[in-house]
Amino acid sequence: MYYDFYAGGAEDEHTLKKNVQEFQRIILQPRVLVDVSNIAMSTNILGYTISAPIMIAPTSMHKLAHPEGELATARAAAEFNTIMILSFSASSSVEEVAASCDAVRFFQLYAIVLTADRPRRGRKEADIKNKMNLPQLKNLEGLISIEVFSDKGSNTKPYTNEIFDSSFCWRDIAWLKSITNLPILIKGILTREDATKAMEVGAAGIIVSNHGGRQLDYTPATISVLEEVVQAVGRKVPVLLDGGIRRGTDVFKALALGAQAVLVGRPVIYGLAAKGEAGVRKVMHMLKDELELTMALAGCPTLKDISRSHGISSSSSDL
Ligand code: FNR
Repeated sequence: MYYDFYAGGAEDEHTLKKNVQEFQRIILQPRVLVDVSNIAMSTNILGYTISAPIMIAPTSMHKLAHPEGELATARAAAEFNTIMILSFSASSSVEEVAASCDAVRFFQLYAIVLTADRPRRGRKEADIKNKMNLPQLKNLEGLISIEVFSDKGSNTKPYTNEIFDSSFCWRDIAWLKSITNLPILIKGILTREDATKAMEVGAAGIIVSNHGGRQLDYTPATISVLEEVVQAVGRKVPVLLDGGIRRGTDVFKALALGAQAVLVGRPVIYGLAAKGEAGVRKVMHMLKDELELTMALAGCPTLKDISRSHGISSSSSDL
């Protein structure tokens, strides 16, 4: 049941599959005879230096994967020297995670990530079938009263209805800005129009995301709309991407199409489920090592060397 909760997507899971498949349609165009004896992967996101352009996406309920939950993930993020975005629906409180390590944390601490694509919960049929019950949300303990671990069917829908205000809209970003000085990143942008609106309301960054295919099914794969968003933003703020990053070559492709960094969702949870903190570290280091090798073999010793001319889309008949 928990595996399905993590792995699954909305309805036909079309977007879930596309997120991965569209990366596979991009073919790399390496340059040879470049000095690649040193590969530099460190980058800076909104003033915070991270060891590689690979961050941890916000995903809920890490304690369903491992008893140490978000605390183990945060320690791995600190060791890897990257940013972990802590989910609002975490199974550990912000305070517990903050106390556990020195990782840069983008959640009411250094920045706020506003998830914009979840006015209501997407229909995840595996959760309904499995009668998936979410445990109490740690950050909302005592504030909402949802029956946890009942046998009446999945509680994910009532949970969401009680927590999320589906009237929240662009106008309300001004309110959010009025109550915090923290930079606000908007997560869930998939179109040029929304990227432009995000710029107008003063977003400090944009995350191109379809929520890992868990919200509206039949939205495009994130990698296929990245360039459109990057062009609309015009380098004014960082553009990040998540969805379907499974290899260092995927990270490279996202950077080639204009992302400043990527976020990783499910692979982190799988690492956590397998081996706790060590498992998350392993996943992050695998991606980084693969990126390093890809940069070397593609003739890109620095992140700035990775350009649009290093990747082309192949038509499906080429595959
Ligand atoms: C998510 N995601 C998510 N996003 C968010 O903004 N807040 C959240 O609480 C969650 N929770 C969540 C739980 C689980 C189990 C998954 C798999 C995903 C979406 C997440 O941040 C990210 O957009 C995707 O996971 C990226 O896709 P990949 O890397 O999983 O393919």
